[in-house]
Amino acid sequence: MGRVTQTTTDAAVLHPASPVDAPWWHDAVIYQIYPRSWADSDGDGVGDLPGITARLPYLRELGVDAIWLSPFYVSPMHDAGYDVADYRNIDPVFGSLGDADTLIATAHDLGIKVIVDLVPNHSSSEHEWFRAALAAAPGSPERGRYMFREGKGEDGSEPPNNWPSVFGGAGWTRVVEADGTPGQWYLHLFDTTQPDYDWTNPEVGDEFVSILSFWCDRGVDGFRVDVANALVKEEGLPDFDGPLQAFDATDHNPEAALPPAHGEEADQPRAPMWDQEGVHEIYRRWRATLEAMPGPERILCAEAWVKPGSRLARYVREDEMHQAFNFDFLDTHWDATQLHDVIEASYRDNDAVGAPTTWVLSNHDVVRHASRLGLDQSLPRPNGIAADQPQPDAELGLRRARAATMLMLGLPGSAYIYQGEELGLPESTDMPDEFRQDPTFARTRGKETGRDGCRVPMPWVRDAPSLGFGPGDGTWLPQPESYGRLAVDQQEGVAGSTLELYRSMLAARRVDRLGLGSASWHELSDDDVVAFVNASPDGSRRTLVLVNLGTEAVELPEGATVTHQSEELTGDGRVPTDVAVWARI
Ligand code: NOJ
Repeated sequence: MGRVTQTTTDAAVLHPASPVDAPWWHDAVIYQIYPRSWADSDGDGVGDLPGITARLPYLRELGVDAIWLSPFYVSPMHDAGYDVADYRNIDPVFGSLGDADTLIATAHDLGIKVIVDLVPNHSSSEHEWFRAALAAAPGSPERGRYMFREGKGEDGSEPPNNWPSVFGGAGWTRVVEADGTPGQWYLHLFDTTQPDYDWTNPEVGDEFVSILSFWCDRGVDGFRVDVANALVKEEGLPDFDGPLQAFDATDHNPEAALPPAHGEEADQPRAPMWDQEGVHEIYRRWRATLEAMPGPERILCAEAWVKPGSRLARYVREDEMHQAFNFDFLDTHWDATQLHDVIEASYRDNDAVGAPTTWVLSNHDVVRHASRLGLDQSLPRPNGIAADQPQPDAELGLRRARAATMLMLGLPGSAYIYQGEELGLPESTDMPDEFRQDPTFARTRGKETGRDGCRVPMPWVRDAPSLGFGPGDGTWLPQPESYGRLAVDQQEGVAGSTLELYRSMLAARRVDRLGLGSASWHELSDDDVVAFVNASPDGSRRTLVLVNLGTEAVELPEGATVTHQSEELTGDGRVPTDVAVWARI
């Protein structure tokens, strides 16, 4: 039974076109740089800001509109920089504030905007505020910036509630008071070294407005907001036994069932640590702060694992954030029905609040999509892949990944690309345990592999030390053997390479304004095929975007002229299994 019943190509308008002069972030393609792993200028095996600056021309060639930099702030790096000790300075491993200024100026000269990461849910335990809190007494203003509570039980030896940490283990740690006795507990939804702020304390809000201003004054174009759904907790901090549903789709349970289907999530209990009403007031203040600033428009992008999509859309109402990552799309398995559902729901929910949809397939927290799509699609997305776990089919994964990206970049809206996906990089699945740094691995005693496999340093040059990542031989995480033949120098100028495919898709997307077009289901859409027409905002160009997820090759409509294909078509021009095309119709 086909899911799409329309018989004419334009009968089912999924999403109307945007104005041609829509703000840049409505259709921007934004490239995520994970600074530790993109380019190393000094040979210490860890990427840095001068390394990024030197390689920015590559991104201009690639054709992206902006970069998002994962955190580069002063940090003890217990969570790779998502544990910030000083929000207004650069960690020496990455460089200096002067290097950041140079990076921002160089990017702007190349026509590339710069988005930085903001981590407002927690600080590092080495932040001066937290050190002061530990030194101060219970009930003091210093403790009041964080979530300190008395323990339960006669001697307070039980944590204040049963909340777990997203990384495994308990979400609370007990401190030793100045007199040497066991004392209060503090909440950390992530690692022990990442204490949660108390956002009911106005001092915290004021501090973050000041941090926003600091980076806007340095010229940034926006902020990706870390765990934007976590800042406010339900009053009374009630116990919770439901699934956490953060970026670990299995919730530390590799046998977990698939996440609820789209539309079913509304029945799930709302977790007291996520998506509380109070967060919206914070983002309204931030939006107003950014809009009151002189200079170009700056944006906010929510990292919020919130379900269902209609709840996520509340983060991008017109006086709140500009974008929110569409993780439902990222989590969708290679299945035409699921893809239809998520695309339809995404436009319905975002159009209802007048926001663009922000598509994404990979980032530094999930198994790379070139590997993910080569795994058994009936199982939930794993949190990393170790050598003794089921291995992805690399060839199948890459084939599907190229098709999935062609689908994503053909969809109106904004899109994020994670460094290295333009090379078709797979997840590292043979990393020896001694290299693993994701706190999840240690906190779950290796039960969860964690996210190191998607964070491996980039291969630039096949025959160079560290595959051209830097002048030294070493890299902070080992590069898998397969990365050599996928290096940038092996793909540049090679017809059909993943890099050239991305370049040509991004160029066409820009010329045809695909990100601002309208989308309508095409009659070829059914249980096996996802097909829609993207009509440019001025109506002059119509692009058929089609992905074949079935077993039979699909014939294109008469007169369709293929402009892009993720793989070779059949000899008679049909679209084979796991292949996507863009065709002018
Ligand atoms: C989400 C970030 O993307 C992830 O890398 C980090 O570990 C957590 N938030 C905690 O900051």
